[in-house]
Amino acid sequence: MESPEFFIFPDECATYIKEKLDILEEKGWVGISSADQEFKSQSTKNKIPVGLMPIFNSDEDVLTEIEESINCHPEMVWVGWLTSYSPSLQGNLALETFILRNLHIFHEQQDSIDDIVISLARCKAVAVLRKMNRTRSAREGIKHGSMLKMLGNTASMQGLYCNIKKVAAVDAPVFINGESGTGKELTARSIHEISSRRNGPFNAVNCGALPTHLIQSELFGHEKGAFTGAVKRKIGRIEATEGGTLFLDEIGDLPLEMQVNLLRFLEDHKIQRIGDTGEISVDVRVLAATHVDLNKAIEEGKFREDLYHRLNVLTISVPPLRERREDISLISDYFFDKFSCEAKTRARGFSKDSRSVMQQYQWPGNVRELINRVRRATVMCEHRLISPEDLGLERRSHDWREPLTLERAREMAEREVINAALVRNKHKVQKAAKELGVSRVTLYRLMEKHHLSRHASEETHPQKATFESGPEIKLISP
Ligand SMILES: Nc1ncnc2c1ncn2[C@@H]1O[C@H](COP(=O)(O)OP(=O)(O)O)[C@@H](O)[C@H]1O
Ligand SMILES: [Mg+2]
Repeated sequence: MESPEFFIFPDECATYIKEKLDILEEKGWVGISSADQEFKSQSTKNKIPVGLMPIFNSDEDVLTEIEESINCHPEMVWVGWLTSYSPSLQGNLALETFILRNLHIFHEQQDSIDDIVISLARCKAVAVLRKMNRTRSAREGIKHGSMLKMLGNTASMQGLYCNIKKVAAVDAPVFINGESGTGKELTARSIHEISSRRNGPFNAVNCGALPTHLIQSELFGHEKGAFTGAVKRKIGRIEATEGGTLFLDEIGDLPLEMQVNLLRFLEDHKIQRIGDTGEISVDVRVLAATHVDLNKAIEEGKFREDLYHRLNVLTISVPPLRERREDISLISDYFFDKFSCEAKTRARGFSKDSRSVMQQYQWPGNVRELINRVRRATVMCEHRLISPEDLGLERRSHDWREPLTLERAREMAEREVINAALVRNKHKVQKAAKELGVSRVTLYRLMEKHHLSRHASEETHPQKATFESGPEIKLISP
């Protein structure tokens, strides 16, 4: 006899499958109960990707229990079997839903054991295909960025990897441009990790997150008693990065007086702690990023031109996600796999509709937004396939046969533009208001009118989004 194949059956169904197990074994298929020690060991679980599910009861509680145990093994493909104990399928909504959600194929009572054997083999083939497909897409995604832990195969990402390698080979400051969420910090980390400084520390400081009076002490440190509240000596972030790379995020937000100190440090590699007269030499490479237009900030007198030139020796631009749409499915599949391994989920992947909607969406929050939407959808999804609604990306393009007043059209466009500005500015109302050319109070009023969130923490809780077709904003229905 050829070596047998194995399948799993849920322990709850053991009684109902007992007499069939021997016959299946004669046909080369050995059943293992999910309660079996052998099944519980991780290695066996991965090797047995197919299961047989006798259905004997359609009590919602029982079905829910079985479903929960199935959901612990999203990699498995299931054959259902309505036994003589099964209730009738006709008009049985709970059973119907259970079958559609969880089983790849199902048999009725009158089907033969040979039919079951064929289905087990087919389901195994499907499981193997799924596994291969996942491994391939994960492998492709990290093929080029493997060293860099970045996903993306488009020409613009290849260009980015190439630039990362070039700038990692030298020790000059690098300026990283790109919209919020495109991967500027990841780019900085990647530069550090393949540079000669990789064994030193990598530290990131968000210059926009600290109040002016704290940022100097945060970056340069202070001596005990340097100012009220300085109860002990504090080593600044620059000094703490000795031998490594310091990433200054949102450098456009650095207060002007701090810019002078930074320039001095970049020029002679020396710093002075607040309250200290001596200078300390430090060996730190600086990478800086911003999502604001620094040329404009220079014109407005908010950013020093000499510092800009000092930092801007080497520049790298990280492309927005909407300009590399081919990477969207790669990134979404990768993160779906990651999140579905971490948490129980019914979802097995994305629906065709979701894929098309993700392709059309503008992604104002770039990769960060994509990851957040996929994370939420993986948790919230109630079906086998993630729908556009699960992603908060309901396709709601206006049906032009339906009447629409100009006022309503304006409102919809207004909501979309405000939402995009908020996402782009990480829900910082002041910044979004500035970008939109309205006062903060006006923006708050408009957000209330359009039911848009005030809290950055709700960025993971996506708003209904809209799509663009061509250069104009496409209007959505209410
Ligand atoms: N190419 C990419 N591949 C995988 N993850 C990415 C990629 N680009 C960005 N990310 C992830 O997206 C999130 C935002 O990236 P980040 O570097 O913080 O963006 P930025 O600094 O431009 O706002 C992070 O979780 C990061 O790991
Ligand atoms: Mg960032």
